[in-house]
Amino acid sequence: MNDLIFETVVTTVSREERPHVAPLGVRYRDDQVVLMPFRPSTTLDNIVATGHAVLNIVVDTRVFAGCVTGRKTWPTVPVERVAGVRLACALGHVELRLESQTDDPQRPVLLMGRVHERQHAPFIGFNRAQAAVIEGAVLVSRLHMLPRDKIDSEMRYLQIAIDKTAGPAEHEAWRWLNEAVANFRGRPPGRPKADAPPRGAAAEGGLGVNTGRRA
Ligand SMILES: Cc1cc2nc3c(=O)[nH]c(=O)nc-3n(C[C@H](O)[C@H](O)[C@H](O)COP(=O)(O)O)c2cc1C
Repeated sequence: MNDLIFETVVTTVSREERPHVAPLGVRYRDDQVVLMPFRPSTTLDNIVATGHAVLNIVVDTRVFAGCVTGRKTWPTVPVERVAGVRLACALGHVELRLESQTDDPQRPVLLMGRVHERQHAPFIGFNRAQAAVIEGAVLVSRLHMLPRDKIDSEMRYLQIAIDKTAGPAEHEAWRWLNEAVANFRGRPPGRPKADAPPRGAAAEGGLGVNTGRRA
């Protein structure tokens, strides 16, 4: 099994056709896409209920930052072969059908077959600020689990890529993430101090869009 994890956005619909958008790290195994949502998960519930999902390849990282900061409504359009939607901003999408699942009280494994795929826009290259937003979104999704110093030192490091390479969308996403950190701590958002020496554990994890395995 190829163990690389790719950060995508999975769109699903409920039985009542209510769309749901969630960033999800996926693995590609031969022709299948492997999803591992932590319980409880609306994505999991929708896939089990409908048997389908749509994988979105996205470079507008506001979707990642938005979903982890309470902005879960993103423009969608219907897809072609399964009952579902894709993100309007997706560079490409893959329509998926649930082929098998391994149940688990914490993190079931869903093996999804490819039904249909379409490219909507070209991938034009890596942008460091986009990668930084994704790393920041992962940190924000773990605010309740990670030590304060680790969050601060990693956000301070990621700020370098934001300062050097962000466009308006990445600046907006980065602002949402910093606001979420500040709200979590019950104080107004402030820019991470560039001159403060990092305390505690050194920053780890890369800048790549592949953010590695999440426990
Ligand atoms: C970049 C990124 C990758 C994520 N990957 C996963 C994942 O692989 N599995 C998971 O359960 N949650 C993952 N999350 C967190 C989910 O997006 C979030 O918990 C989501 O709301 C899942 O729950 P839901 O299906 O109820 O929306 C990720 C978040 C981010 C920002």
